[in-house]
Amino acid sequence: MPEASAIRLYATRRFTPAVEQAMDARYQVTRNWADTAMTSDALAQAAQGCEYLMVSLTEKVTAEVIARLAPTLKVICTLSVGVEHLDLAAAKQAGVKVLNTPDVLSEATAEIAMMLILGAARRAAEGGRMIRDDTWYGFTPTGMLGQQLTGRRLGILGLGRIGKEVAKRAAPFGLKLHYHNRRPLPAEEAMGTTYHETSDSLLAVSDIFCITAPSTPELKSFLNAERIARLPKDAIVINVARGDMVDDDALIEALQSKRLFAAGLDVFRGEPDIDPRYRTLDNLFAVPHLGSGTVETRDAMGFVLLDGLQAIERGETPHNQLV
Ligand code: DGY
Repeated sequence: MPEASAIRLYATRRFTPAVEQAMDARYQVTRNWADTAMTSDALAQAAQGCEYLMVSLTEKVTAEVIARLAPTLKVICTLSVGVEHLDLAAAKQAGVKVLNTPDVLSEATAEIAMMLILGAARRAAEGGRMIRDDTWYGFTPTGMLGQQLTGRRLGILGLGRIGKEVAKRAAPFGLKLHYHNRRPLPAEEAMGTTYHETSDSLLAVSDIFCITAPSTPELKSFLNAERIARLPKDAIVINVARGDMVDDDALIEALQSKRLFAAGLDVFRGEPDIDPRYRTLDNLFAVPHLGSGTVETRDAMGFVLLDGLQAIERGETPHNQLV
C-alpha cells in the first residue's frame, strides 16, 4: 500500500465540508462533482486505479464493479449502516475490506421514527396540507381527530441499535414496548420491552408497528397483505429501515381502504421513484429518507469511515470493518 498521502480515493458523492476537508488532507481524492447517483458501469470507469472507494447507499457495488477495480482497490467505505447495495461476498473473495457506519446514526434515525409516529398518529400530513391549500375549515370539536400515543402498543421489528434508540424515546410518550428479534435480548438490554418469539405474535399486538430491522433477503416484502391483516384494525405502520421490506400494493390498499389508520415512511422501494399512489394518500406521513440527515450525524458517519481507514493503515481491524 502506498504512503497515506499517495493513496487514491474515489468519492461517488459529495460529503459534508468537514469530512471532505479531512479526506482531501489525507488522500489524493477524485470525486463525482455532479453528486448524482452513479450507475455501476460509470462507477467502475470513474474509480479506475483507486485504492479506496467511498460510496453511499445510492451506488451498487456489484461483483463486476469489484472485479474491475480489484487490481488496485483495497477498501470500500459506505456512508450507511445498510450494506445491501454492496456485494460483500465478492469483496471478501477479492481481498477488499468493507467499512460501514454503525452506531453513529442510531439516534438521528430514532428521532425520525418518533417524528413519523407522531406525524402519522396525529394526521400531520393531512393537517399540513390544509394549511398550505387554505382548506382549513377552522377548529371543530370533532374535526381531524387522531390517535393519542399514551397507552398504545409499539411493536418494534428489530430491537438492535436503532430499535433500542426508538424504544428509549417512545417510553416517555407512554407507549408500551414490544419487539421481535430472532433471539430475546438479555434483560439488562431489553429496557422493559416485551419479547415476541414470532413476528406474527408481534404484529398481533402492534397498534403501531415500526420496522427498524436491516433489510436482509428473508425480510424482502416482509410486510405483505397477510401480515398487514394480522395487525389490529386502525394500526399505524412506520418504516425507517428499507422500502423493499414492504409490499407497496398491500400497504397502499390498506391505507386506501382505511384498514390501517396511517403510515409514516422514511424509506421507499426504488426511491426516489416511489409508487405514485403514495402521493395521493392523506393518511401517509412521508419524508424522503431523512433518517441520518443531520449535520452532526453525517459528519460522524464520514469520520467513522476515515478513522477506520487510518486504523487499517496502522495494521488494525476497525470496529466497523465488515469483511
Ligand atoms: C443507512 O445508513 O443505511 C441509512 O439508511 C442512511 O440514512
